[in-house]
Amino acid sequence: MVPVGYGSRTIGRVPLVPPYIESLRPYEAGRSIESVRREYGLDRVAKLASNENPLGASPEAIEAMRRSLEGLNRYPNGGLALREVLAAQFDLRVENVIAGSGSEGIMSNIIRAFLGDEDEVLTTDAAFIGFRVLARSRGVTYRTVPYRDWHYDLEALAAAINGHTKIIYLANPNNPTGTIFTKNQFDEFYRHVPERVLIILDEAYFEYAKDNPRYPDSMHYRYDNVITLRTFSKAYGLAGARIGYGFAHEELIRNLLKVKLPFEPSTPAQAAGIAALGDKEFLHRSLELNARGLRFLAESLQEIGMHVVPSEANFVMAVLPTEADAARIFEELLTQGVVIRPLKAFGLPNCLRISTGTDEDNRLCVEALRRSYAADVRASRAG
Ligand SMILES: Cc1ncc(COP(=O)(O)O)c(C=O)c1O
Repeated sequence: MVPVGYGSRTIGRVPLVPPYIESLRPYEAGRSIESVRREYGLDRVAKLASNENPLGASPEAIEAMRRSLEGLNRYPNGGLALREVLAAQFDLRVENVIAGSGSEGIMSNIIRAFLGDEDEVLTTDAAFIGFRVLARSRGVTYRTVPYRDWHYDLEALAAAINGHTKIIYLANPNNPTGTIFTKNQFDEFYRHVPERVLIILDEAYFEYAKDNPRYPDSMHYRYDNVITLRTFSKAYGLAGARIGYGFAHEELIRNLLKVKLPFEPSTPAQAAGIAALGDKEFLHRSLELNARGLRFLAESLQEIGMHVVPSEANFVMAVLPTEADAARIFEELLTQGVVIRPLKAFGLPNCLRISTGTDEDNRLCVEALRRSYAADVRASRAG
């Protein structure tokens, strides 16, 4: 049957779509294993494009999710059970905790709850693209400052705060660079931030960095105008469940809860999150695999001659000589069954991001890079 479309007369005549939405490029997720397998006729595909956990999810989380299906006919409790567990774990009141459909779900609520039409958002160039798309969809001014040596330039950010700045977004560790800022750097920056400015501290990769003594765990300082976001999507392997959480002053949480969809997160997602928090063995295994993968990728890429930014997360960023090099290497790796992330959409066209995988995935990736990189960069230099 031929699908019946809609006519386009109305859209053409009246501006149903605001210009800031019309001009927005939607978030593009990494290619799925299945689509790459089909397109290139491959048996095995290593997906190293979306900073996911290559070990899967905690078996305890999967079991809890399965058990929760019994109650699927009932509406969820808005994340209350998970909020209670997190409050106890972090020595907070439940009023200081929010749970949502991934940390992006909470980001979206922050943008809806706290940004007025005249307010501005401030962050770094090439910030996490999920945040950029959400912030831009609000139609407010979105200002950025360049990185300094692939790190947030907190001094420049402090200097860029103006009377309209309402939200400052900082990811620590940062995606896509993998770099961190330290407690001292953050403290110095914080002295310049007026109370009327809300800082989003996105700690999606917290678990990977937390044992680094230079890494500041924002739960140690708990400032009134800082909201910390964390997720079960990365180290806990629950990206597909959509479950994340945030900590903040109770006034911020109280207002966020007004705009949050009342029934997110879903019952199975919440059950998985609670169980995942208790599965220390899975977390430990995930962090060990990641640490090994980071070392292997960084050392191997350097050996090949690529410039790699030192990372504290579960991915590394490689900086290529040119945009053409990055595009070619990305394509060549795809044909060899290795999916990595080109960073053109982030605003870094000559960079590639590679998530850590299983030991086997990482080996496949390095072998494919070895084949592609030398030939490609030689060709581009000759040309
Ligand atoms: C910095 C950062 N924040 C948030 C997210 C999204 O996390 P979630 O799956 O919890 O929405 C990601 C995912 O890639 C990320 O890199």
